[in-house]
Amino acid sequence: MKTKVTIVEVGLRDGLQNEKFQLTTEQKVQFAHKLIDAGIERIELGAFVRPDWIPQMAGSKDVIDQVLQATTPKTNKKIQAAALVPNERGMQDALETKIKEIAIFAAASESFSKKNINCTIEESFERFVPVMKLAKKNKIKVRGYLSTCFGCPYEGNVPEKKVVELAKRLYKMGCYEISIGDTIGVASPAQVESLFKKLKKVIPVKKLAGHFHDTRGTALANIYAAYKLGVRVFDTSLGGLGGCPYAPGSAGNVATEDVVYMFDQMKIKTGIDLKKLIKTNTWVSTLMGKELPSRVSKAERN
Ligand code: HMG
Ligand code: MG
Repeated sequence: MKTKVTIVEVGLRDGLQNEKFQLTTEQKVQFAHKLIDAGIERIELGAFVRPDWIPQMAGSKDVIDQVLQATTPKTNKKIQAAALVPNERGMQDALETKIKEIAIFAAASESFSKKNINCTIEESFERFVPVMKLAKKNKIKVRGYLSTCFGCPYEGNVPEKKVVELAKRLYKMGCYEISIGDTIGVASPAQVESLFKKLKKVIPVKKLAGHFHDTRGTALANIYAAYKLGVRVFDTSLGGLGGCPYAPGSAGNVATEDVVYMFDQMKIKTGIDLKKLIKTNTWVSTLMGKELPSRVSKAERN
């Protein structure tokens, strides 16, 4: 078995988008540097979405400019930074920055698509066409997210067939990696095994990622189930920050510290320094004036 996994840190995007406490641009940039210093190489820095819908992401351009300016020429750190882009307008904004990767995001259930991006699933794929064209022209990598793959906050059950069909569509249209989202944190390891077995038949497993929210405490078990099937890329959020504003009641992503701890104990490399993550957790939670959900940070700090 290959003994390395890749963590995609989404705390600055998925994490902060649902937090009431608003970090300043400077604090977001500091946050990003602390994560990069801890060894994070893949990081989401923001989203080019409507600021009246997601106020937390309003300063994404400045955050991206400042983080990329500081990391690339000076420290020569190799980081793969990304930002969410829902449509052509968002892509135009992204092109004004030095970002080299964007993520488009679709849903596997109609109601969530409507609430989250104000259009049907079909319309969202139409909106992705000009985004993909601009990405190709400007040599920007595109990641594809598929939300509500294990359940929808409005519709409940989501058929596996639909998830597989839409994930395949994102892959075929040129996304280099498809992140399979448990947006509301309802999945179980059995469900993860069943769905990923089907996904692997149509998309190479190296091109799949797991995006688990930890609402019901099953995210680590789900990651392990996906790992056993060959998935090696997982999205996590420092401290377990966040959630999605259009998925009521859902908790943040699984905490980066908890995932790094689990893989460290299994002698599976992440390239990330757990102690530095825990220090970053202390810094963010002090700033926000609240404890973050990560269990490992709580345990190791005491
Ligand atoms: P819309 O209103 O349908 O867009 O929004 P529109 O094309 O009809 O345009 C209406 C107005 O919005 C126009 O302005 C546009 O210029 C403007 P006006 O002419 O009226 O002055 N506009 C924009 N402004 C800034 N940035 C843009 C943009 N597009 C249009 N990109 C849109 C559609 C998708 C933009 C909107 O619904 C939106 O911003 N939604 C927020 C989506 C979001 O960020 N959700 C959270 C992230 S997704 C997530 O968390 C799930 C994930 O983590 C995976 C998982 O957990 O499953 C990824
Ligand atoms: Mg998410």
